Amino acid sequence: MTDNPVQIRPLVAGNWKMNGLKTAFSEAIAVAEAISKPDAAPADVMICPPATMLMVLTEVTHDHKLLLGGQDCHTAESGAHTGDVSPEMLKDAGATAVIVGHSERRSDHGELDRHVRAKAEAARRAGLTAIICIGETAGERGVGMTLDVIKRQLSGSVPDGATAANTVIAYEPVWAIGTGLTPTPDDVAEVHTEIRKTLVDRFQAEGQAMRILYGGSVKPDNAKTLLAIANVNGALVGGASLKASDFLGIVAAYS
Ligand code: 13P
Repeated sequence: MTDNPVQIRPLVAGNWKMNGLKTAFSEAIAVAEAISKPDAAPADVMICPPATMLMVLTEVTHDHKLLLGGQDCHTAESGAHTGDVSPEMLKDAGATAVIVGHSERRSDHGELDRHVRAKAEAARRAGLTAIICIGETAGERGVGMTLDVIKRQLSGSVPDGATAANTVIAYEPVWAIGTGLTPTPDDVAEVHTEIRKTLVDRFQAEGQAMRILYGGSVKPDNAKTLLAIANVNGALVGGASLKASDFLGIVAAYS
């Protein structure tokens, strides 16, 4: 399998992680304005800010094309879960998607595939698209386990009934996150092809149409190469999404 016969509109999503004070609103507004111009790149663009910023960002960007997402969610709709945010709350605040199973959640909070799957199901209940993250560690790659890990995570984290509308997969090799390191284009192609094959086997046409993002040290200077790889349908960007100029430099790979 090489090029996907289905036309997939790419998605470039910025994960701000635990970064963003009021001073950062201007960066999001700059992105919102740039991507709403008639000559903007043909890609969906999303920012996933901290939950504290979501509602105001929704208000200040509402007449633009910028999509907003959450970074994590609880599985319940509401209740006694101090400090957590439900997918319904994210939706209410203006999100259309939520990242689940990011490797930082898996390592900092001990989240396992079954937790990630439950969060993805909760996201669907609330009408949000789940951006489900998977990816191997350096150790797993070193012993040739990458594809096994990817397939295990896909099988455990992606719920039954996933569709191209309610699910996005983000392949983020743990060792590439925040390090400036990236896999070779051949390595990215190998993993994304395997992800596509696994999704098509399980979800048929929906799996063919599902977006598969690459994440891990995506920068303006490597975006064109990474985003041109077969079965790479966009990017999940961390550090380089915090500055509008860098993030727009990545989106421009689709111009
Ligand atoms: P960096 O782009 O900073 O490597 O982070 C990637 C990431 O974790 C996005 O979710």
